Amino acid sequence: MLQRPRRNRSTPALRDLIAETHLKTSDFVWPVFVVEGSQKKEAIPALPGIYRWSLDLLIPQLKEALALGIRSFAFFPKVDESHKDSTGSLSLDPQFYLYKILRSLREEIPEATLITDVALDPYSSDGHDGIYKNGVILNDESVEILAKQALLQAQNGAHIVAPSDMMDGRIAAIRKTLDQNSFKEIGILSYAAKYASSFYGPFRAALDSAPKSGDKKTYQMDPRNKTEALRELRLDIEEGADMVMVKPALAYLDIIQLFKEMSDVPVVAYHVSGEYAMIKAAATQGLLDEQSAMLECLTSIKRAGADIIFSYYALEFAKLNKGQA
Ligand code: PBG
Repeated sequence: MLQRPRRNRSTPALRDLIAETHLKTSDFVWPVFVVEGSQKKEAIPALPGIYRWSLDLLIPQLKEALALGIRSFAFFPKVDESHKDSTGSLSLDPQFYLYKILRSLREEIPEATLITDVALDPYSSDGHDGIYKNGVILNDESVEILAKQALLQAQNGAHIVAPSDMMDGRIAAIRKTLDQNSFKEIGILSYAAKYASSFYGPFRAALDSAPKSGDKKTYQMDPRNKTEALRELRLDIEEGADMVMVKPALAYLDIIQLFKEMSDVPVVAYHVSGEYAMIKAAATQGLLDEQSAMLECLTSIKRAGADIIFSYYALEFAKLNKGQA
């Protein structure tokens, strides 16, 4: 035999030498759940190890993350049921607690990148990403609110706004609104190919944001489709997206690879709540080794082509990778 591929695998040093994919702590964005009030660190049963933080406890937590090399954070606010309504009007209230959190974080941790979620579902009494009326999600009416929401987020300190709603035309509307209000430097991370997935379950439990009726299939993408993802990608880039996301990650590695080939903006993958919860649950039952399963999953997301990874494992990865950027 002239060809013996095993020769290159014979020692750990050799394997590192020929490794083609390298995860870095700076690849990660940590999704963070926040809650109003003080002295709150609320456990989320569906997401072991993940908490909802009030501002006072959040600050030291984010400082710890920064010390470990995690410098970008995506915020998801928990809203009390009594503050939800059909148009998600809380998100347009300048007094909304998330805006106070953003302003404080800009002062306390100026080196961090603050990413905010643009969508109605955390604020909607219907649990939908847009306005729900008689069984229909109203696109253009929703986009108007989303653009205002993005503006408030920018005004209060977000560096990047991330529309996760999947309404048509929202990237253009948000770009226009930001530009007209002198927020030309605020970036848009578009959830471009967001699939109607069962892997969002634990996230919806964390925010109490599951749809009250129906599902999200009239706006989120059908898992059977790939060409359609290219259409969403093209439109979002034409409309001004600075980064494009594929979500979830593991069941959509082919879409991540496609985005990497077809786009000239950074590709983001969201390793979503259900993907995290699955590893946790299996590890808790002794079915697999959590650390190596986590590393294998995150590595395959990077290998598929993701430049940036949103993951609830960001902090755990950073701890493992300590000392390296
Ligand atoms: C909704 C939103 C969802 C997630 C991020 N933004 C859930 C949904 O679409 O129902 C899910 C993230 C996760 O599961 O970790 N705008």
